[in-house]
Amino acid sequence: MSETATRTGTTPPPLAAMIATLREQHALAATGGGEKLRARHESRGKIMVRERIDLLLDPQTPFLELSPLAAHGLYGNEVPGAGIVTGIGIVAGRACMLIANDATVKGGSFFAETVKKHLRAQEIAEEHRLPCLYLVDCGGAFLPEQDRVFPDRDHFGGTFYNQCRMSAAGIPQISLVFGGCTAGGAYIPALSDQVIMVKGTGRIHLGGPPIVKAAIHEIVDGETLGGAEMHTLVSGVSDHLVESEMEGLAKLREIVGALGEIGKIAAPPQPAAAPRLDPAELIDIVPTDLRRPYDVREAIARMVDDSAFHAFKPDYGATLVTGFAHIHGYPVGILANNGVLFSEAAVKGAHFIELCDQRQIPLLFLQNITGFMVGTEAERGGIAKHSAKLVYAVSNARVPKYTVLIGGSYGAGNYGMCGRGFRPRFLFSWPNARIATMSPEVAATVVTELRRQSLKGAADEAAIAELDTRTRAQFEEQSDPYYATARLWDDGIIEPQQTRDVLGLCLALSAGEARDTGPRPVYRM
Ligand code: COA
Repeated sequence: MSETATRTGTTPPPLAAMIATLREQHALAATGGGEKLRARHESRGKIMVRERIDLLLDPQTPFLELSPLAAHGLYGNEVPGAGIVTGIGIVAGRACMLIANDATVKGGSFFAETVKKHLRAQEIAEEHRLPCLYLVDCGGAFLPEQDRVFPDRDHFGGTFYNQCRMSAAGIPQISLVFGGCTAGGAYIPALSDQVIMVKGTGRIHLGGPPIVKAAIHEIVDGETLGGAEMHTLVSGVSDHLVESEMEGLAKLREIVGALGEIGKIAAPPQPAAAPRLDPAELIDIVPTDLRRPYDVREAIARMVDDSAFHAFKPDYGATLVTGFAHIHGYPVGILANNGVLFSEAAVKGAHFIELCDQRQIPLLFLQNITGFMVGTEAERGGIAKHSAKLVYAVSNARVPKYTVLIGGSYGAGNYGMCGRGFRPRFLFSWPNARIATMSPEVAATVVTELRRQSLKGAADEAAIAELDTRTRAQFEEQSDPYYATARLWDDGIIEPQQTRDVLGLCLALSAGEARDTGPRPVYRM
């Protein structure tokens, strides 16, 4: 038996139905705080956050939105997208990271997932040297959640640390202030290299009128305290005063257009070629029931240029498919699961990673893994050290790594196949993905067995049955890709047929960067 057998229980819906659900959820999240708050927002002459982004981006260019379902199912579903939109788009010919508050969601204030999403966007920007454009409309920390937002290393303070460090490293930090920015919200523009403020609605104050009243008993209105005119003409906190949001967006494009070479994308080394096999066919090829095996090479053929995949060591350790391909003209070394990871597959994977590292070919991991092989035979064959070789190679590869969960992501299989802990540049999930230490079925067996052992023969079978049911339910809920994406364990759930386009964009972002080309031997294992 593998480390974690695939789940049993009810048969999941087909992929087409899962994609339909995903579209519904994305559409719902995109409505932000709902109709009433949208109307209030627009009655103030303000533009909705996604429309601001559309207006900012170069026409006919893609926007790779990150984690649109952050905070999904949390806080009574009242914080769609965690109240912030992040993503990569092209502005004045340069790839930029956009970090934009949604003021219709609790005044754009920060929940724990908002902070995590903001930090993650900055991390991606720093790794790829993308200018950061902050579209600010933010009430600072969401006060009832302040203990999960304010004090720790990876909390709100970390976002400002990142801004300062990125700026010093020559990665432009530019803010356009649309609305009331208080406390933490004020520091986003205050720590930017350049600031634009919209007259009438843009405000920056370390403490808003209620805080000022409480602290020093001064009664003052928001405009006097921190309005755009005051900050541009008097305090100098803002560099440019604009009459409208449209003018602000045009000014921001102008500033980005004068940034020099940063953010410019390197052309692919060879022309992109559409797959010969239609990516739309993935919907019929990929089973959502993880118990049903299929040949992952069928999926790869529908993702890569010209459906051309040059397999490496195809006749050895065949439960891990390894090989070279191109996506949108960019080279990539692919590792994809085709069954349980045995020792042979693990060492083959490590060998292949070293090969790609030496040749400076980025790595793509397609995870559909129940785990490494367990049992006496596997242990005697050294599965612990052989699987560790794969984990070691993944950890030390110098080339960019990308991971897509195309099925199960269980146990140490997640580690060997470059799960989140191994710092892939991006990690996306398909709607059929499942992620957990083990399947509900196996978890229920393990937990009830442990209880039986600790009760030493005095187990109450009714209580054991109840524990079994509870454990299954827990693992079922927590393995769900929506549970994962809500907590930002990935960068978003994507539709399978869009995978090659999403990856093409990701690969393009890292294509021109300087690499560590020091010697790296390839050990045959
Ligand atoms: N903490 C908790 N709730 C907040 C919040 C914050 N920092 N900022 C806004 N909200 C809530 C409001 O209470 C309101 O909730 P409700 O819809 O449940 O009543 C909702 O977000 C919308 O806020 P509202 O004030 O109606 O929106 P607005 O567009 O008129 O103003 C702000 C937006 C951000 C300018 C204003 O809400 C504000 O100044 N907030 C407080 C900022 C503050 O003091 N922050 C200190 C953080 S350390």
